[in-house]
Amino acid sequence: MQVAHRREDVRVMRAGLGTVALVPTMGFLHDGHLSLVELARRHHDAVAVSVFVNPTQFGPGEDLDSYPRDLDHDLGLLEQAGVDLVWVPEVADVYPVGSSTRVRVEGPLTAVLEGGRRPGHFDGVATVVTILLGAIRPDALVIGAKDAQQVVVLRQVVRDLAIGVQVVVGPTWREPDGLAMSSRNVYLTPVQRAAAPVLRRSLTEVEQRYAAGERDAETLRSLVRSGVATQSEGSLEYVSVADPVTLAELDRIGPAGALVSLAADFGRARLLDNVTLPGAGRAPATVR
Ligand code: PAF
Repeated sequence: MQVAHRREDVRVMRAGLGTVALVPTMGFLHDGHLSLVELARRHHDAVAVSVFVNPTQFGPGEDLDSYPRDLDHDLGLLEQAGVDLVWVPEVADVYPVGSSTRVRVEGPLTAVLEGGRRPGHFDGVATVVTILLGAIRPDALVIGAKDAQQVVVLRQVVRDLAIGVQVVVGPTWREPDGLAMSSRNVYLTPVQRAAAPVLRRSLTEVEQRYAAGERDAETLRSLVRSGVATQSEGSLEYVSVADPVTLAELDRIGPAGALVSLAADFGRARLLDNVTLPGAGRAPATVR
């Protein structure tokens, strides 16, 4: 496994690798990341992973400084997983002195949900991923479905900027009790950790009601609200039932299906989760 720090090095190391799939990460890796590595390997000669806690996607007062980091452990896991190339840049490698270009996705896609609550977050994500793609020039970008709005926004960036990379989305990886894996789960106290699977249970109930024929979006939102309210460790910030492509909130779910997403605060941990309710004749958006 080759480990690069500087931009010039990553370019040189990438050159001999054939087709490459890139899994961008902020480190503190878990099985969800490793499942993306496995997915990446399935269709490409080589797998590249970036490990970079990107400052431009954190807002003031967010957890940039305390974001969990364990590079040695990450590199061990990536080596074991057979990754070919890891890029671990410093902030100055990604944003060198004098860099002044930012990628901004305008309009409703970034004004709602996470974008509405974390102004500038998706500008930071779009910018760093564009830089990672420019430096590594992969054939595929492999990202996880847990950050559903990030998937929609990055697809838009790739399309708008004609980047010419395939976007591959891997399914959300879960703990045995259903909690979606996230590096930020480490913030949960044992009591909060025990309560947090309520999020998945509420979304499962939504899936079941949808399968039974429920199409009223507000009924499904209410199910999540009342499900999460059965415990007192965490509070729901929002639940959305939206069009999976435009992210516009729905009254009724039509043939396009819906993305049901939520954010909840459990102490220091802000947890996200979602499910896609399939539309008529539509395959799920993730690839296994
Ligand atoms: O999903 C993440 O971990 C980050 O947003 C990403 C895509 C690595 C960009 O920093």
